[in-house]
Amino acid sequence: MSTSTPSKVPDIALRDGTTIPQLGFGVFQIPPEDTVETVVRAFQAGYRHIDTAAAYGNEAEVGQAIHAAGLQREDVFITTKCFNDDHGHQKAKQAFKRSLEKLEMDYVDLYLIHWPVPSTDLYVETWQAFIELEQEGLVRSIGVSNFQPPHLARIAEETGVEPTINQIELHPQFQQAGLRREHADRGILTEAWSPLAQGQVLDDETITGLAEKHEKSAGQIVLRWHIQLGNIVFPKSVTPERIEENFDIFDFHLTDEDMGAIEALDAGERIGPDPDTFVRP
Ligand SMILES: NC(=O)c1ccc[n+]([C@@H]2O[C@H](COP(=O)([O-])OP(=O)(O)OC[C@H]3O[C@@H](n4cnc5c(N)ncnc54)[C@H](OP(=O)(O)O)[C@@H]3O)[C@@H](O)[C@H]2O)c1
Repeated sequence: MSTSTPSKVPDIALRDGTTIPQLGFGVFQIPPEDTVETVVRAFQAGYRHIDTAAAYGNEAEVGQAIHAAGLQREDVFITTKCFNDDHGHQKAKQAFKRSLEKLEMDYVDLYLIHWPVPSTDLYVETWQAFIELEQEGLVRSIGVSNFQPPHLARIAEETGVEPTINQIELHPQFQQAGLRREHADRGILTEAWSPLAQGQVLDDETITGLAEKHEKSAGQIVLRWHIQLGNIVFPKSVTPERIEENFDIFDFHLTDEDMGAIEALDAGERIGPDPDTFVRP
């Protein structure tokens, strides 16, 4: 197949010695019937990192897209996630097995606890199962998603194992400076979900002004801001031109002044659920 050069995406080192491509492709809300075609298109554009989850209902199609694109398992970095009703030692292991079967793989690159669900208080037990999955060689790296500082502190204190990554809501309107500092202190990498605020930030005047200045699209400006902050990102799109455009962000640089202008857009407002209370979609 003809592809862009994947090597222009930086690889970031995780604390466990593995690496992750800093730019990937997210498949939340892509219906299963459209997933193979869309993910193959992403592979053709050059993406080699896919972010899926059991709860997205399209793990099987992500696995099929690798074969359909003529790629080998080791060519791609695959993340999936354990959902809220699968917390607990045994349930998490069973959920992982189901994900692996759907993906038709014998390992995943990164497995995340999707939400902490403090109300059931099973995330430490779930984390222990994750540690074992990594020890068994079924998962290359283990991490969490939507964890707040007290949740991060508890799993580290009770198991002695820090996550490699915390995947959190993060975009210009919700920049999470405090949580990013906490990650840096703990040696945890930050993944930014809804990096484009699901499109809501793209008509902001500051962003469109920077797009004009750099002769790039608003989406490219926001993604470039994430890359320069050091965030790992995986924008979602089903639109062929956007899939290509979102990958084409490594030939320009935002100045300190540009970065400051975007920093000033932080409104501290989530568009997604609150991790302290979220139980189900
Ligand atoms: N861990 C979690 O709890 C969690 C939660 C949410 C998301 N995620 C992950 O993060 C990924 C990305 O987040 P997301 O899907 O919520 O939102 P997003 O990537 O911020 O935004 C996707 C939306 O923006 C549009 N879009 C994409 N590129 C664009 C561009 N260049 N110009 C204009 N519009 C553009 C897309 O439209 P079209 O598709 O119509 O082109 C889609 O409506 C997900 O797919 C998932 O992997 C994780």
